Amino acid sequence: MIAEMAKVWRARTWMKKNVPFLYSWHAYVGYELELFESFKKPASIQEVALSRNIEMDLLEQWVEVGITLKHLKRASKDRIRVKNGWKLPSSKTEAFSSGVLLKEMMELHIPALLSYPSLLRNHTKQSFNSELHGSTVAKTSILLERFAFPKLQKVMKKYKVDSVLDLGCGEGGYLRRLADRYPKKRMVGIEIHEAVAKEAQEALKPYDNIEIKNRDLHGYDPEFTFHLIMANNLFHYIDPSERLAFFKKASQWLGDKGVFFVLTPMQKSKHGKQFSSAFNSFFMTFENLYPIPSQKEMETLAKKTGFKVVSIDPIVKEGGWYALCFKKK
Ligand SMILES: C[S@@+](CC[C@H](N)C(=O)[O-])C[C@H]1O[C@@H](n2cnc3c(N)ncnc32)[C@H](O)[C@@H]1O
Repeated sequence: MIAEMAKVWRARTWMKKNVPFLYSWHAYVGYELELFESFKKPASIQEVALSRNIEMDLLEQWVEVGITLKHLKRASKDRIRVKNGWKLPSSKTEAFSSGVLLKEMMELHIPALLSYPSLLRNHTKQSFNSELHGSTVAKTSILLERFAFPKLQKVMKKYKVDSVLDLGCGEGGYLRRLADRYPKKRMVGIEIHEAVAKEAQEALKPYDNIEIKNRDLHGYDPEFTFHLIMANNLFHYIDPSERLAFFKKASQWLGDKGVFFVLTPMQKSKHGKQFSSAFNSFFMTFENLYPIPSQKEMETLAKKTGFKVVSIDPIVKEGGWYALCFKKK
């Protein structure tokens, strides 16, 4: 009897632990289908279902859940509106909606984590489809920019940096922020994903000191050396067995006393262990993505390639995200 009670209690505990997931799921659906936009002003379920051409039964259920979670409220008998809108992701049309993070979590991280049983059983990994997800991934990295940029700015000032190479530059957010402050310094961004590189080229058109090259950094051979090289949120794209060669390349492409700036989540970090281990679990389901580095690994690579570790600072502590700065000896 006691054993049975314990089982029920355990099941209840797991159910309760899962409640926070409901909030993320609800917000994700609302973001993806722009439903929070539809209910910004009081509207009926039928109106929204018709105007958005979506299934009414499921919309009704999503609304029910939203009311229990206080994402939505009844404005009148038949009309629903958003409640606590400031907490919810803003529209997809906005450049910096927190919804992109929900999208990445729900469409990429959760499915990858759920595939563990079959991957374990079949001794396989899946393939990361960058055509499908490359743009979402590049966008979520943008959310970090605000936190990380002040560190980069400090490095620019401290070393009076006069040229910058951004490897895996995504949509070029760091270069744009830099160019706003330093319109005369030479800057180059390398991005392998065609659509992402196009976005960057489009966004950076007004800056004639920035060049975005749509190419694989592994085949890149710059004509000039640079004063600063960045590799932000890139290490999980580099096979650990190729990281030493990558550090060597960075050293070659830097001039005397050049600076290597890296932004990355780190494994087994002092801060944000839960998040970084979950992140790593996600990366490791893919044959073409790799484990995030550990601090020890980065320090060893730096030592082997003639870099001095200048600083290792947390950017988002709870996420285990760090800015690392190395200087050529
Ligand atoms: C997570 S995003 C980060 C973007 C940007 N650095 C940031 O921190 O906001 C990593 C980017 O690196 C690009 N990338 C990955 N492997 C690459 C390679 N071998 N050569 C050039 N770009 C690469 C990906 O396409 C992706 O856009």
